[in-house]
Amino acid sequence: MVINGNVLDMIGNTPLVDVSRLSPNPDVRIVAKLESQNPFGSVKDRIAKHMIVQAEKEGRLRPGQTIMEPSSGNTGIAMAAIAQMKGYPIKILMPTSVSIERRQMLEVFGAELILTPGEEGSNGAVKRAMALAEEHPEYCFLYQYGNDNNPLAHYEGTGPEIWRDCPEITHFVAGLGTSGTLMGTGKFLKEQNPNIKIIAIEPPLGERVEGLRNLDEGYIPPLFDQWHGFDLLDRKRVVRPRESLEWTRALVREGVFAGISSGAALAGAVKVAKEIERGTIVFIVCDGGWKYLSTGAYTDDLDAAEAKAESIIYF
Ligand SMILES: Cc1ncc(COP(=O)(O)O)c(C=O)c1O
Repeated sequence: MVINGNVLDMIGNTPLVDVSRLSPNPDVRIVAKLESQNPFGSVKDRIAKHMIVQAEKEGRLRPGQTIMEPSSGNTGIAMAAIAQMKGYPIKILMPTSVSIERRQMLEVFGAELILTPGEEGSNGAVKRAMALAEEHPEYCFLYQYGNDNNPLAHYEGTGPEIWRDCPEITHFVAGLGTSGTLMGTGKFLKEQNPNIKIIAIEPPLGERVEGLRNLDEGYIPPLFDQWHGFDLLDRKRVVRPRESLEWTRALVREGVFAGISSGAALAGAVKVAKEIERGTIVFIVCDGGWKYLSTGAYTDDLDAAEAKAESIIYF
C-alpha cells in the first residue's frame, strides 16, 4: 500500500468481483466492477475529476470561479467534493424527485442546491442549466452530457482497468445516463477486441424506470452522437423497475450493497447470460446502496418498493 497524496489520487482502480453464483448459465461468468469503491461513492468520481482538471488546464476554469452543473446526484456529489477541496463555489441543479440522501450529500460537500420540478426529471434540470449558463456566462458549465472528458475518463481509466484485470471479457453491460461510461469504456474495449459486445440497459419506452434513460424518449445526450453510439452499441436490453429491485437485492445477498441502477445492469447481464452459450460478462456497479436507504428499496415489501421506484430518479 502507498500513502496517497490526496483523495483525488484514490479515484479509479476499482476492484472486480465474481458474482457468477447469480448466473443462470454455468458457462457464463458474471463479474461486477465496483465503482462504488471510489472515494465519493460512485463511477462519477472519475468524470468529475477529469472534467475539472482538464478545464483548469485549458483555462476554462479559473481560481474562485463558480461551477454550475445539472445532476441527479452522483456527478453533483463528486463535483461538489472536488470543488470544495479546490476552493470553487458550486451550484447543482437537481430534480426534487431524487432521494433525500443525495441532497444531504450535496449539502455535506457545501454545494448550493437549485431544485427543478420533479416531474420534469433529469431533462428538466439539464434545460434549466442551459438557460442559466446563457444568463451567467461567468459560470463554468462543464456539461457532463456533452463534455468529451466524461467518456475520456472511462476510455483512459475504466476500459484499460477492465482489460488489464479481465482480458477474457466477452460482454460489457452498463446503464445509460449521459452515456459516458458506455461510450468511453466501450470504445476502448472494442479497440482491444472488436468481438466484445457492448450492451446498454434501458427502461421500457414511456415507463419511468429509476431514471434510466431510454434513447427513444426524445433526448439523446450529445456525447452519444459525438462518440458514434449507434455504431458502438451492439444491443440494448430493456429492464423494468421490479427486475432492477430484485437483482439489487440478489447482489446484497452476495455481499454487494449496491444502488438500484446496478441491479438494472445485473438484470441485463442475466438476460444476456441466458442467450449466449459461454462467455464472461462485466457489468458496472455504479454506486453503493447508502444513498437509497430512505427509498425502502432493500427492505420494503417488493410491491411497495416498486411503486415508490416509479417516482424516484436514481440517475
Ligand atoms: C447511479 C447511476 N447509474 C448509472 C449512471 C449512468 O452512467 P453514464 O452517465 O456514464 O451513462 C449514472 C449517471 O448518470 C448514475 O448516477
